[in-house]
Parts: sequence; structure tokens; C-alpha cells
Amino acid sequence: MNQKIRQPIVTVAGHVDHGKTSLLDNIRKTGVAENEAGGITQKISFTKVPLNQVECRCPLLTEKKVKLDFPGFLFIDTPGHAAFSHLRKRGGSLADLAILVMDINEGIMPQTAEVIELLKLNKTPFIIALNKIDNISGWRKISENLKENIESQPINSKLNFDEKLFTIIGALHHHGFNAKPFWEITDFTSQLALIPCSARSGEGIPELIMMLCGLSQKFLKENLRLGDEAKGVILEIKKEKTIQYAEAILYDGIISIKDEIAIASFNEPIISKIRVLEEILPLSNKFRPLTETVAANGIRMQL
Ligand code: GTP
Ligand code: MG
Repeated sequence: MNQKIRQPIVTVAGHVDHGKTSLLDNIRKTGVAENEAGGITQKISFTKVPLNQVECRCPLLTEKKVKLDFPGFLFIDTPGHAAFSHLRKRGGSLADLAILVMDINEGIMPQTAEVIELLKLNKTPFIIALNKIDNISGWRKISENLKENIESQPINSKLNFDEKLFTIIGALHHHGFNAKPFWEITDFTSQLALIPCSARSGEGIPELIMMLCGLSQKFLKENLRLGDEAKGVILEIKKEKTIQYAEAILYDGIISIKDEIAIASFNEPIISKIRVLEEILPLSNKFRPLTETVAANGIRMQL
């Protein structure tokens, strides 16, 4: 039995434009969102964020001397546009954990509700990033500590924030959730954590990462134990001239260039050799070739 622990797969989902890609950009320190066609995400993408980057974006981990047993996260970005419901389903079914991103100023919108139902169906544990707090009228970033910053807001901004927060808590109650701001959570198995944040100013991002690490460490460890057999989900098959590429998420085991893979299809399963195997580079959307790689990973195969 393999004792290695793999990265938790964290799917980021929510309504269009609520800031999913921006949130990942803030964690990675990249600028993917601003370069997207029409400012809209149109496919599922994955990013490997190694532990050193996780620690760098969340100094709280070092301050509190938290030791993590897993090697980082594999994040999956999903589109929020109504047309991409099939991609949200696929991204949602892969997740060990999910971040539901919600614009605090807009609350639950149609695709937010769609994602909530999907997470319920798959029994995926999740947290909610209440993004764009910097858009609340009069909001200022005064302290690096989120809780202190919320308490230090001008009275009208604080009232505005509280009102939005309570409205969202009420709406989540209708979906069957007992949601609370994360600092009030006493039991993560029965309460849903809300993390106010801003992908623009970076407020709340360390706290969000802290939550992800805490939940992964506490509740997922058994699920993260690496099996021997390679298992994955194909996201996309691309044909360039005569070459076929498959982009996939390897969610368990070890895959080698010597392996034959079986792909489920409507008729017979497709059995194929792997001509070229590539894995995604950390914090990047580029691939590098190799002969063997371990889950969790974003991979590309030439078939
Ligand atoms: P889709 O993938 O198309 O569903 O959108 P998305 O959820 O990935 O949103 P994206 O990150 O592309 O952000 C949408 C817009 O909101 C962009 O113009 C961002 O700059 C802006 N935005 C994202 N996060 C924040 C934030 O925290 N504060 C403010 N003020 N703007 C934000
Ligand atoms: Mg996006």
C-alpha cells in the first residue's frame, strides 16, 4: 500500500465574473484573467501550486508553525458563464474540496445556485469566498489582518458589509446550509465557512488558504492516500494535423509512458498507447515531457 499523500484537488466555481480566475491569479501571482478572450473563462484549466508557494501566500502557516502533510494543491478553474454547465459538472465531480466564489455585492446568482446544488449532489466539502469586498462603498484596506480590517471600517461600510453578509447567510439557509463567517465556526462538519476577501487587494487570501489547508489536513487525509493504479479524467481531446492530444487530470496513482490507457466512450472503451507524456509545470500553463508522473497532476498525452 502506497503511503504517499497527493495534493488535494480544489475546484473553483461560481457565477460568471464573480472573480474565480482573479482569485487564482492572486494565489499564483499571475495575470491570467486579464488576458482571457472577452474576459470570460471558456474551458477548464488546472494549476499546480506547490507547498512553498502556499506558504509564501499564507504567512499565517509559518507563524502558527502549521506542518502540512500534502505537497501543495491542484486547483481547477471552471467557467461561470451559463453556457458551460457541462464543464462545471465535470470540474465539480473531480474535486476533493471546492471554493465557491461569490461576489459579496451580488450574492447568490443563477450559476451560484447551480454550483451549490452540484456540490450537494457530489457531497463535495466546500468553503465560500465572498469576493470583491473592496467594492463595498467606502471600504479601505487598513490592516493586513482580515478580521481587524473588517472591524476598522468606517461605520457605514461596516453596516453595509454586515447587511450583505446576513442576506447571504439567509439565502444559504434556504439551500439547507448553516453558514457563518469563518471566525465563528465551531464545527466544520456541520457549518459552512464564509471567507470575505478581495482578489484585487489580496484581503482575506491568507485566511482563505489557511482554511483550505486546515480542511485538507483534517478531513481529507484518507482520500489523499495515493493508490497504485493510475486514474484520471480526460478534459479535452485536441487534434492537430495527424496528432491527437488528450488533456487530463490524473487524480490517483502513477502513470508511465509504458502504460496503455483505457478511455471510456459511448461504444467500446478506447485502448491506446501513450506516445508522449507531459505534466503541467508549477504555477504555469506550460507542460514538460517526462516518462512517469504521480497524481494529483494536470497531464497531456499524445495518443
Ligand atoms: P468567468 O470565468 O468568466 O466566470 O469569470 P471569473 O469568475 O473568473 O471572473 P474574473 O476573475 O475573470 O473577474 C471578472 C472581473 O471582476 C474582472 O474585471 C476582475 O478584474 C474583477 N474582479 C475580480 N475580483 C475582484 C475583486 O476582488 N475586486 C474587484 N473590485 N474586482 C474584481
Ligand atoms: Mg474565470
